[in-house]
Amino acid sequence: MAAVRTPGVSGYDLGFRSVREEISGRELSVEGRFPDWLSGQYVRNGPGAFEAGGERVAHWFDGLAMLAGFSFGDGVTYTNRFLRTRAYREAASGAPTAGAFAEPAGGVLGRLRALTAEPTDNANANVVRLGGRLAAITESPVAVAVDPGTLATERVVQFEDDVGAQHTTAHPARDARRGELVGYGTRFGLRNRYELYRLPDGHTERELLGTVRVDEPAYMHDFALTERFAVLVEHPLTAAPIDFLRPEQGFIDAYEWQPERGTRFLLLDRATGDVIADPRVSSFFTFHCANAFESGDEVVIDLVAYGDASVLGGLYLADLDTSTPDASTGQLCRYRVPLDGGRVSTRTIADVGIEFPRVSPAVGTEMEPHRYVYGQGSADPDRAANELVKIDVETGEVWTWSEPGVYAGEPAFVPTPDADREDDGVVLSVLLDVDAERSALLALDGGSFQERARARTPHPLPFGFHGRYFPASGK
Ligand code: CO
Repeated sequence: MAAVRTPGVSGYDLGFRSVREEISGRELSVEGRFPDWLSGQYVRNGPGAFEAGGERVAHWFDGLAMLAGFSFGDGVTYTNRFLRTRAYREAASGAPTAGAFAEPAGGVLGRLRALTAEPTDNANANVVRLGGRLAAITESPVAVAVDPGTLATERVVQFEDDVGAQHTTAHPARDARRGELVGYGTRFGLRNRYELYRLPDGHTERELLGTVRVDEPAYMHDFALTERFAVLVEHPLTAAPIDFLRPEQGFIDAYEWQPERGTRFLLLDRATGDVIADPRVSSFFTFHCANAFESGDEVVIDLVAYGDASVLGGLYLADLDTSTPDASTGQLCRYRVPLDGGRVSTRTIADVGIEFPRVSPAVGTEMEPHRYVYGQGSADPDRAANELVKIDVETGEVWTWSEPGVYAGEPAFVPTPDADREDDGVVLSVLLDVDAERSALLALDGGSFQERARARTPHPLPFGFHGRYFPASGK
């Protein structure tokens, strides 16, 4: 699926090179000017090292979790720290990374242990506030609390509550109005089910809101939240529990793409947990939703859709070390799901390759409609992640930013305080400059999409997943 190229020619392989050093509070040189109102910290999560037991891990998603933090004050200071977890210690001591995304689990007992008593704590996907602390999370039901200043690991939180899901979303959605995170997970057992939960601010116990029985659960990564509904986008990448007991394969290998099943939108009422509608459409695959909102008697969901799940297979390091993934196929699409179970309509919003779609938190966490979606773009089909894009979902207008030899990570939009325009703010993104062999924190003007400032890091950072801006005060 990907164009074969010589390692190093595109420099893409630098995004999968392990970081050897940890840096604490180093002041970065800045070109241009970051806005004075930026305060607090932008924290990103992702794999920082790609070896366990002296060998390359199989899949990008199994790199060892490392946090990178940019603090705003008089200047910009940089800190990076690996999570100090069981997974980190095992990787250092040469043990296999049991229970990971695409690694063998060490026998049937190893798989059962990974799904029950010892879920992986390699929390490399996202960062959230949890119980008033900063925490790294992934798809296993654990959270790794870190010191917000040093990013040093404090403790691994194993939830002890009503939610029994062994696999959860790495994207709990924040509802700022109600002051809670909402998420879901899959509970495997004699009766498989999806579990929807809420986690009120300041708490570390999740409250079960509802469950949906399902024969063969789907591998889902993200979902959409509106004022009244949680929307699970259940594409047909599914597994029966017995499929997990083939221990020579990884967790994700248990799932099989079954396009004849179609993709189902599960609308769950947040108040009652009831399924309000569950219409199916022609099959597509998705990692990420940009935002969702209610409009009359419909729920509108913008997400990045792929024709099938082959994008997952393209993220094995054996491929990524020698070529770039075919990243041109993910497109921002709008789905309108009627509450009465009627036909779902869809359209492609813009004809550009996009991943990591994000909206301003001023609309996203307020359960409001959005006008703009920001994302990592892929202008060249053979060269993924080589630009940043901004899309006007009403007009289809697209703004892009790119630079030769530079890759860009997920953007984060930070609104200007008291902004009266949705795109009044800055777009933060961590760049990888393959010629300079360094990374940089970039700030684009949200309106014009032109560069405002850049702060270069002492070392190159591998391609990461998700990050979040935490203002000095507030959530
Ligand atoms: Co994600």
